[in-house]
Amino acid sequence: MNLRLAAVILAGLAVGGLAALTMLPSSTTRPGGTSTGKAAVGGSFELTSQDGKRVSDKDFRGKLMLVYFGYTFCPDVCPAGLQVISAALDKLGPKADEVTPVFISLDPERDTPAKLKEYLASFSPRLVGLTGTPEDIAKVAREYRAYYKKVPDPKHPADYTVDHTSIIYIMGRDGNFVSHATHATNVDALTGLIQKAL
Ligand code: NI
Repeated sequence: MNLRLAAVILAGLAVGGLAALTMLPSSTTRPGGTSTGKAAVGGSFELTSQDGKRVSDKDFRGKLMLVYFGYTFCPDVCPAGLQVISAALDKLGPKADEVTPVFISLDPERDTPAKLKEYLASFSPRLVGLTGTPEDIAKVAREYRAYYKKVPDPKHPADYTVDHTSIIYIMGRDGNFVSHATHATNVDALTGLIQKAL
């Protein structure tokens, strides 16, 4: 299957799912009885950065997070996603200091911190690359409802690609989901969504 097409279809499905979630009535009730109406996307994580540091979601509180899941061997979709994120951050100017872009690897077996560091050098220096154990990655992907699946490469049996959703999650200063874009969103539209969330 054409990888780009597959990723776009998956992104569309996931966006549909997110839209359905955000349109749910405010049925989430806190013990105090207050309705929150928050979409259940996102959650806590503790992973390792491209500099080998342990990093948790709580380290990014007070700033927005742009969370994007992918992998460094991705032929086209991830580079497109990281490029639009990088360009939107440039466009924000000094306001970009209030945003942390986070790239979470869906291929923890190959994406070591060193590999992430080398790969991310082609994009915004603001990017925080995160990897972890396969279990850690499965947990955070589940929290964000990110789909991913290893697919064997027919030409190179020892090799594989990873089909995955291509969503840019915009998370608020409190870590809660605000809105989303995809790798195919244009730079101005993504910049606008970030500005709205700031
Ligand atoms: Ni990708």
